[in-house]
Amino acid sequence: MTVISVPQEFNENDLYVDLQSIIGRPLFLKCEGFNFAGSVKLKAANAMVETAERAGVLTPGSVLVESSSGNLGVALSMIAASKGYEFLCVTDSRCNQATILLMEALGAQVHTITEQAQVGGFLGARLDYVRALCASDARYVWLDQYTNADAWKAHYRTTGPAIARQFPDLDVLFVGAGTTGTLMGCARYFREWHPQVRIVAVDPAGSVSFGTPASRRLIPGLGMNVRPPLLDESFVDEVVHVDEADAIRVCHRLARRGFLFGGSTGTVVSGAMSWLDLHDSRDLTAAAIAPDLGERYLETIYQSDWVQDLYGEDVLRTGELTAASRAA
Ligand SMILES: Cc1ncc(COP(=O)(O)O)c(C=O)c1O
Repeated sequence: MTVISVPQEFNENDLYVDLQSIIGRPLFLKCEGFNFAGSVKLKAANAMVETAERAGVLTPGSVLVESSSGNLGVALSMIAASKGYEFLCVTDSRCNQATILLMEALGAQVHTITEQAQVGGFLGARLDYVRALCASDARYVWLDQYTNADAWKAHYRTTGPAIARQFPDLDVLFVGAGTTGTLMGCARYFREWHPQVRIVAVDPAGSVSFGTPASRRLIPGLGMNVRPPLLDESFVDEVVHVDEADAIRVCHRLARRGFLFGGSTGTVVSGAMSWLDLHDSRDLTAAAIAPDLGERYLETIYQSDWVQDLYGEDVLRTGELTAASRAA
């Protein structure tokens, strides 16, 4: 029995899905969505808040403020509610409505940016807004997930060792790149303790994180419009880029087998499939990280109208549509 008294105490860290029978390639998917914040971002949020408290930066009466595409915002909403802080999340119009409602239900205030900045797009505009808030009132505390080393250290301490414990013979690990906290924590851990493991970063096409040109991206979580400050490419062995349409196809393929994951999981699994197809994967032990689950994407990735309007009529072949999408 597990008994907790605050929500952040619970986080399932040892659940994997063997995807072999679904995708026809050897891949173990580490599920990070089983906690009360519903995503991998609980780890970064917890670590950043605890350090700020220890440093005396975050004190009773502080108002947390953060720019988030959603999941860190939910995790901070939960932790703020549990610890009695106010929290203001600055997001943008790509954030799922369900995620905004979730943050509000947890007592957070949400500000949605609708205009992109000339430099840095939506993210640039969100950061400008957060900086202006912090300049206006000393009670605002910005943990800044984009530069805060505690975000990657959380994964160095937990996610990396948890994977190594379960897969002592791991050959390759696929990690999606958003702020790159998850990627850098795992990459630094494996480079130091198990350097034989190849670290493959998975980035959506249209993200500039690894020096490729910017283009439209609609799936929240992965990819950046500016180079991620936490990223040190010397720890990353390879990078795979994935079209959002392919990520969506994989989400539907997994859903048809009863596994409803978020869009970034579709991206990571699609990237892993492409990589495994280019390598002799028969004797490889491969793992990938699934950052969240699919409920937050019911009105986007799992709606055929949304998918077809934005990615074209043919993006989902009939066989890959979920029943919900077919009925819509
Ligand atoms: C759904 C989802 N996937 C992936 C990520 C990427 O994680 P990281 O910021 O650690 O790179 C995030 C981050 O917000 C996310 O919300």
